[in-house]
Amino acid sequence: MRRPIIAGNWKMYKKDYEAFDFVKNLKPLVSEINDRTIVICPSFVNLAKVYSEICDSNIALGAQDLYWEDEGAFTGEVSAPMLSAVGCTYTIIGHSERRQFFGETNQTVNKKILSALKYKVFAIVCVGESLEEREKGITFQIIENQIKEGFTGLAKNDWEYMVIAYEPVWAIGTGKTATTQQAQEVHAFIRGLLPAEVAQQVRILYGGSVKPENIKELMAQPDIDGGLVGGASLKVESFAKIIKY
Ligand code: PGA
Repeated sequence: MRRPIIAGNWKMYKKDYEAFDFVKNLKPLVSEINDRTIVICPSFVNLAKVYSEICDSNIALGAQDLYWEDEGAFTGEVSAPMLSAVGCTYTIIGHSERRQFFGETNQTVNKKILSALKYKVFAIVCVGESLEEREKGITFQIIENQIKEGFTGLAKNDWEYMVIAYEPVWAIGTGKTATTQQAQEVHAFIRGLLPAEVAQQVRILYGGSVKPENIKELMAQPDIDGGLVGGASLKVESFAKIIKY
C-alpha cells in the first residue's frame, strides 16, 4: 500500500503572520488523521515560522525549491542542508513555473534531486506537458524525457525519497482539471517508466486545479496517490476538506 500524500504548494503567497495563522487553524482540524501524509510548502522566508507551529504535529514542512550546492557564493539561493536545518523534510523540485519562468531544465532538476537525496529530504518532482505539447500529441514523449533525464543516476534505495507530481501545465491555476481518465492514463504511463523493483512503491501525485469537489474521484484512480494543491491550499477550509477527501 502506498501512503497517500496531500501537499499544499503556497507559491508566492502569504506573509509570515498569515502563514502562521493558517497552520495554527489547520492543525486541530487534521490532528486525527494518521493514514496519509500532509505537507505544507510555504515560501523560504516563512519556513522557520511555520515549523515552530507544526513541529509537534502530523503536518510536515516542505520547501518549493532548492539549490544543488551545499553552500557557497550563490546569492539568493537556499541549499538542502539549510532546508533540513529548519525542519524541512520535503521539497518540491522542477515545478512547471520554475521550468517556465526560471530556466529550470531536466538537468538542473537532476542536480537538485541528487542534492535533496544527500540530505534525505523527500523530493516532490514535478513533470507535465504544456497545452501545445498535448495538442501536438507529444505528451508521453515529454513526460518520458522529464522522467528519464530528471531521475538519472538514482540507486534503488534512493527511490524511497522520491515522489512524482504529474501536473499538466494547462491545468495549473486555470480551473481546468485533467479528466480523471486523462490523469490516470499519464500516471500509469509514468509508473511504467520507473525501475520495475520500485515502481509499485513510488507515490505519484496529481496536480492542477485540485479542489474539494474533485479530489475524491482523483484519489479513486489506481495510480493516483495524492495531490499537489496550489490555489485550494491557501484557504484552511478547502485544504482541510481536500486532506480529508
Ligand atoms: P493549482 O496549482 O492547484 O492552483 O492548479 C497546482 C500547482 O501548481 O502545484
